[in-house]
Amino acid sequence: MATDAGAPLPRFPDGFLWGVSTSAHQIEGAAGEREPSVWDVFTAEPGRVRDGSTGAVACDHYHRYREDVALLAGLGVHAYRFSVSWPRVNSPGGLDFYDRLVDELCAAGVRPVPTLFHWDLPASLDWLERDTAARFADHVSVVAGRLGDRVPKWITLNEPAEHTLLGHALGTHAPGRRLLFDALPAAHHQLLAHGLAVRALRAAGAADVGIANSHGPVWPASASPADVEAAGFYDLLLNRLFAEPLLLGEYPDGLDALMPGDVAADLKVIAEPLDWYGVNYYAPTRVGAPGATASEYGGVSLPPGLPFSVHEIEGVPKTDFGWPVVPEALTELLRTFHERYGDRLPPVVITENGCSYEGLDDQDRITYLDAHLRALHDALTAGVDVRGYFVWSLLDNFEWAEGYARRFGLVHVDYPTQRRTPKASYHWFRGVLGAQGRG
Ligand code: NOJ
Repeated sequence: MATDAGAPLPRFPDGFLWGVSTSAHQIEGAAGEREPSVWDVFTAEPGRVRDGSTGAVACDHYHRYREDVALLAGLGVHAYRFSVSWPRVNSPGGLDFYDRLVDELCAAGVRPVPTLFHWDLPASLDWLERDTAARFADHVSVVAGRLGDRVPKWITLNEPAEHTLLGHALGTHAPGRRLLFDALPAAHHQLLAHGLAVRALRAAGAADVGIANSHGPVWPASASPADVEAAGFYDLLLNRLFAEPLLLGEYPDGLDALMPGDVAADLKVIAEPLDWYGVNYYAPTRVGAPGATASEYGGVSLPPGLPFSVHEIEGVPKTDFGWPVVPEALTELLRTFHERYGDRLPPVVITENGCSYEGLDDQDRITYLDAHLRALHDALTAGVDVRGYFVWSLLDNFEWAEGYARRFGLVHVDYPTQRRTPKASYHWFRGVLGAQGRG
């Protein structure tokens, strides 16, 4: 990877928000102290998680949150993005935990940025049901009523694209459905839930509301019309299907015909204006016509019959997860969004960016983050209004179907002892934050 690592990073604008991210199911543990989520059900089934693990204990953050907030304070981040577990909020004492966490963060001078849904749906609910959207709005009202006096910034959903694709279309994530294109109603109901949540948050007095969507450039495998068409279709599914209802109030390419309910009325709710738009970026995807080669998505074989195939990106470094490292694709992504959506795109916050590497002396992570921050600055220079950047993740954690084998943390977690050890990247990021100044 071409990198200027070592040279000082360019200066980001005053007020730029620096943070790190986690999610409830991936770190909290204490599964016995809440009702089950779809992820508890899914991980109890043999063969679902690569190392057979579950989120039952994870990083035991539920009991160790004070130590973890101290790590945040030591890092010097302005903000901490965590998620509020809906099953925990439904359980006795659950909201008290988030109340304590938010107090601890405020006392440490770290702004709490909660995500209200990060994939751990209560096991009794189902995104294929329209009513789940209304239930989500009720959950959001409860959380906002309790925490709203101290929370400056809210995130409705995390990555509805991945939750739809992996959880409902391909079945590699909870709830493990393999519906392929029949999964689209799950996307629509999440988007509707988002719109209802924006309204519920504003009704509770929230002033700064966004979403965290997963996006990345999609590159055709070749210039052949078949590859270009397949890449366009994949871009539709990953990027446009989730950006355009929110930003333009319409589904792209007639996809509204495949959605359930009174779609035109729902789109008015879904397109409730946002204060900012969160982007989770990891890597671009190279896509070609179906059947050219055996195809994988995130280490999972794709079923036959899809109108595209996913190809390896050659000639670039790979993380330990095998994901390609292409920092300039972050600049490309943001410039593309800026060009596509113009002033319909609100200020952007990078709500996740990071990589999985082994080891405490994680120079590869430093190289990755350094290069992505330079790429992000290039997007700013090109005129994209970017307001913040959150590293995924504070801690090594439960990486869904990959279990504990992938380590995305700035802080190493030794799971048997729960000992936290800051990695080289933690010390490096602290230096970046110190040089950039207070947001
Ligand atoms: C996106 C998800 O939001 C997060 O939960 C996950 O751990 C990271 N990407 C890394 O895969």
